[in-house]
Amino acid sequence: MCGIVAYVGPKDAGPILLEGLQRLEYRGYDSAGVVISNKGLKMRKVKGRVADLAAAVPARFKGTLGIGHTRWATHGAPSDVNAHPHLSADERIAVVHNGIIENADELRAKLEADGVVFLSETDTEVLSHLIARTVEETESLEEAVRLALKRIVGTYGIAVIDAQRPGEVVVARNGSPIVLGIGEKEMFAASDVSALVRYTRQVVHLEDGELAVLKADGFHTFASDARETAKEPLTVDWDAGHYDTGGYEHYLLKEISEQPDTVARTLRGRLDDRFHIAHLGGLNMDARETRSFRRVKIIGCGSAYYSGQIGAQLIEELARIPADAEPASEFRYRSPVVEPDTLYVAISQSGETYDTLAAVQELKRKGGRVLGIVNTVGSAIARECDGGLYLHAGPEVSVASTKAFTSTAVAFALLALHLGRVRDLSPADGRRICEGLRRLPEQIKEILALEPQIKELAHKYADSPSMMFVGRVRGYPVAREGAQKLKEISYVHAEAYPASELKHGPLALIGPEMPTVAIVPDDELLDKNLTTLGEIRARGGRVLMVGHRTADPKLADDCVVVPKNETELDPILLSIPLQLLAYHAAVALERDVDKPRNLAKSVTVE
Ligand code: AGP
Repeated sequence: MCGIVAYVGPKDAGPILLEGLQRLEYRGYDSAGVVISNKGLKMRKVKGRVADLAAAVPARFKGTLGIGHTRWATHGAPSDVNAHPHLSADERIAVVHNGIIENADELRAKLEADGVVFLSETDTEVLSHLIARTVEETESLEEAVRLALKRIVGTYGIAVIDAQRPGEVVVARNGSPIVLGIGEKEMFAASDVSALVRYTRQVVHLEDGELAVLKADGFHTFASDARETAKEPLTVDWDAGHYDTGGYEHYLLKEISEQPDTVARTLRGRLDDRFHIAHLGGLNMDARETRSFRRVKIIGCGSAYYSGQIGAQLIEELARIPADAEPASEFRYRSPVVEPDTLYVAISQSGETYDTLAAVQELKRKGGRVLGIVNTVGSAIARECDGGLYLHAGPEVSVASTKAFTSTAVAFALLALHLGRVRDLSPADGRRICEGLRRLPEQIKEILALEPQIKELAHKYADSPSMMFVGRVRGYPVAREGAQKLKEISYVHAEAYPASELKHGPLALIGPEMPTVAIVPDDELLDKNLTTLGEIRARGGRVLMVGHRTADPKLADDCVVVPKNETELDPILLSIPLQLLAYHAAVALERDVDKPRNLAKSVTVE
């Protein structure tokens, strides 16, 4: 979604802001802009890419303070005028904003009645005029910003500069992330650490309601009542190299290929071969508390939710605790019953997905115990949870989630092992799962070696108008994630169904023009799955089977055979060929693989 970058220090701000905006491109945007302070505010903004903005910024735009933005249109179409920053009428104040101001229409009408002329259709412009109106009477830009924010209903991450105070930037957060970057006699701020890591790895995350004043020599943070807050900087272990394509054609292929390493990182230091348990110190729960839960409820959005379905299955199988997953975006709106003996688990790669964050906050308000399975260290969801596990998968840049999905499923296997071993999972089964987990990185390498075959299959099936994905029990979330990957990056319509449900309706869709990707592991449901394949073939449907053995050509046109692990862990491996299938279908169809249309990497709005 929208991105923010801010700089104050001794260097030329322009190149730093442009480089930061380029790092944020992966989040999805339609226009970009910068403003630099140097004897007045110098602004350029364009509809289009950051490269177009860089070409439009004149060399004479020099200055050591500035803010920049990539916009994802909400109020008003993508255009040069609607792009951020937005200036006050006297061009003294400049604002960039992520989020949505819900009472913008009402505020705009009041300001217009007072004679303010608006240039854009955005909700953000309201803020620049509101700040400009009080900045004359207040002692500081910080106070003017705080007063303006008091009138706002909605979510925001903002950065503000004042032409008459050329040494400071004010940033604030409510529901939309802002991270400060601490440099040597320079300060940065951004909506995402990816924009900062080239310059510093010392960061501070703002909490909702907090505001910060940045000057070259440091920063101060304040709560909404103007009380100064104390913040401990965090060191991020991601560096700029993580944000390069590393020689791959797309970030997506790089991230799929990294999975042997990223899975190894998720497992590192967490498996105990003596007692066949998982060490998960970050859960902050002793054995007695861990035993006290009678249910597990998992929440997340999109692919995170599908990995949660794999997680629920693992917890039921290994720990024998009833578990289910639900989209966080639904959970938060249905006034959920929060029970003291339920363990809640929130999943998020970014740690900033607004729906998931809001669901966690609702749970906390009602006294729920919430663990987070999160990739981004120090992110809002991680901070909000009572404990949890970090994935350590490194930054995921491509909009479509792959390595975070896989590492989340692995993290659930660790959690299920942990919950199981404090209950009834035997040492022998614990050992079996530990050994299975250790085999995963090598087995993922074997699957990645199938890429030429999968590429050929992707070319064969990519021109289908629609595809069906089916799986039973453990295979069903794999099918759902496979369909999600295909539709989001190739725009080919795909539906996922439990294989058992086909004959209750969707079988009517099956015919030569609608191929089926069938997830067929070698488990107790193998025969049932093979029967389903027969039913599809009998209706003239083509079948691409993903499983542990090749099928009779009467049942499947094509087979992708993946290595077998322990039955409970097989879904983790079965998902990987589907990532490659979607990737190569998207490339064959010449899609914008890393930045699919209409999507953003982290959805920080409702
Ligand atoms: C994944 O391919 C999607 N782009 C999307 O469904 C994503 O998983 C979802 O928005 C949740 O994001 P999060 O993990 O950062 O919370």
